[in-house]
Amino acid sequence: MKLNHLISIKDIGKKEVLKILEESEKMENLLHSKKAVKIMDGKILATLFYEPSTRTRLSFETAMKRLGGAVIGFTDIKNTSVMKGETLGDTIRVISDYADIIAIRHPYEGSARLASEYATVPIINAGDGSNQHPTQTLLDLYTIKREVGKIDGINIAFIGDLKYGRTVHSLCHALSLFNNIKITFISPEELRIPKEIISDLEKNNTEFCEKGHIDLKGIDVVYMTRIQKERFPDLNEYQRVRGTYKLTLKHVENKNLIIMHPLPRVDEIDPRVDNLPQAKYFKQSFYGVPVRMAILKILLEN
Ligand code: CP
Repeated sequence: MKLNHLISIKDIGKKEVLKILEESEKMENLLHSKKAVKIMDGKILATLFYEPSTRTRLSFETAMKRLGGAVIGFTDIKNTSVMKGETLGDTIRVISDYADIIAIRHPYEGSARLASEYATVPIINAGDGSNQHPTQTLLDLYTIKREVGKIDGINIAFIGDLKYGRTVHSLCHALSLFNNIKITFISPEELRIPKEIISDLEKNNTEFCEKGHIDLKGIDVVYMTRIQKERFPDLNEYQRVRGTYKLTLKHVENKNLIIMHPLPRVDEIDPRVDNLPQAKYFKQSFYGVPVRMAILKILLEN
């Protein structure tokens, strides 16, 4: 499989997605075997995080180290020459000479694509503004495959911030590559799924509907999201919609479904839900490790 960078889930097709999921399963088995692995011996991953992260950055680091490689990077631009006015292009040119692969998270849409134009090593988009988060999408698909047993034919409900939620945007596109998917979007009016995502679904003949209240009849996968305060241009707008939805025991108890959330969460899931067998969000964040191991391996073996 030839893949130079991973910038958008739209850059890869179903065949490539299935290949990454297959490789992720091998990596998960490798992790469970506890064997020392040296696949990335001598290789360096640079993690350039211009925005906060817990899961994405640390699971990338874990993935590289579990494969026997090393990691450099920054988590706060205050300690970098970005503060002296260095451009993204120059930073990427320099780091390309230090590392074999770069994972970047940046607040601006298109920043990872721009980085790939300056890089001489593979670039992985670890989230660019409200745009894309392709490695999250792949781990979400992996979670669905592992926990539901299939991706084709699922009935999924996305709940919460569907306007700014990049994980939702990326996952919608990826799901549209599969067969007989049904999507229910549940959001406040102000945070409805963007028109371009709807057009993409229509183009791929993916069935969807929009609702304003939580209704989980016939749903296989509930995908909760956080209302992202940091993305609102006007904080008054955030105050109006915060706390609109809270998933509680009454919504999901005794239902044959799984609950996912890219995390972090704030108050949108009642903590008592965590103890239900349907709650898969912590397992989902664990799956980030084998999936990112697979992505590193595939990008570096080109
Ligand atoms: N899901 C996710 O991207 O989490 P972090 O922001 O902690 O990386």
